[in-house]
Amino acid sequence: MDTREWYNLFAEHEAAGSSPTYERLARAVGESQPLVALLEELPAPKRQPNLLFASARLLGAPIDDPPAFITYVLSSWDEVAAVMQERSTQTNEAARTGTLLPVIAQISGPIALIEVGCSAGLCLYPDRYAISYDGQPALARHSTVHIDVATNGSVLIPTILPDVVARIGVDLNPLDVNDLADRSWLEALIWPEHNTRLARLRAATSIVAHDPPVLLRGDLVETIDQALALVPSGATPIVFHSAVLNYISSEDRKRFAEQLSSHTEVVWISNEGPGVIDGLASHLRPPLGAGSAAFFITGRNGSDVIGISDPHGTWISW
Ligand SMILES: C[S@@+](CC[C@H](N)C(=O)[O-])C[C@H]1O[C@@H](n2cnc3c(N)ncnc32)[C@H](O)[C@@H]1O
Repeated sequence: MDTREWYNLFAEHEAAGSSPTYERLARAVGESQPLVALLEELPAPKRQPNLLFASARLLGAPIDDPPAFITYVLSSWDEVAAVMQERSTQTNEAARTGTLLPVIAQISGPIALIEVGCSAGLCLYPDRYAISYDGQPALARHSTVHIDVATNGSVLIPTILPDVVARIGVDLNPLDVNDLADRSWLEALIWPEHNTRLARLRAATSIVAHDPPVLLRGDLVETIDQALALVPSGATPIVFHSAVLNYISSEDRKRFAEQLSSHTEVVWISNEGPGVIDGLASHLRPPLGAGSAAFFITGRNGSDVIGISDPHGTWISW
């Protein structure tokens, strides 16, 4: 896509209604011929608005004044471009555990959670966050991470926390919550006005820092067998992912599905956008007042559709 058009579409369809700051910045970038020219020197996947804005913010760019932002980025281009080349958008949203917990909690006995595309692994802790469904008391009520989920339809609200005996994350570039630079990057990825998400990220990283997951660096197709080999005997392996399979080719998605189906003991939970997993479609749509038409489809074992959810975990419909 043409870079100018990409920034304009981002302003109109992604930032509008969610981040006025990013909406203004994206429009300003689209109007800046010199900045568009510099962005076009980068490989196409590195030109994305989220990556530019997070990289510039990490370096201290002024974001409340679009002309000052453009001046900053143009004059500091080498530093900004270096961060954009080194980093990628690895936003880790702990609130997605609110979507996953009702599915995970149905599995009795000890379980081993394996998240592919885990970023820093914050979604590996559904039993450590105070997740409240429709205002009901949360099971892990003493947690410092609070997640409120509105449900619609036949959602099975968890009554008992899962018995998690292992947490294993796989990522091309796992982020370490005990590394200050990785933590700063995770914070820079949260959009400016999303203060609740920022507070939740900080609380979740603190919990994870005290009991970090096992993190494996590698491609999810190539590394899943290595992750499964780490599952303690007697534990049911739950392989899950959210906002990840859209990053890999449809051939690799097929290979991944084939690999999982060869492990009959594995429960596979997917939480991805419509069309990402062949055969998983839903007639459900976001509830009135959801604020966005975007949704994920939650599926089990690549064939059962469980329901749909807010990409940031604020509502689920089964
Ligand atoms: C948008 S983040 C989602 C993180 C997390 N699943 C969540 O829901 O908060 C996508 C993650 O997938 C990882 N990823 C993308 N392609 C991958 C691949 N082929 N193998 C492993 N991880 C991958 C990225 O590095 C990134 O950390």
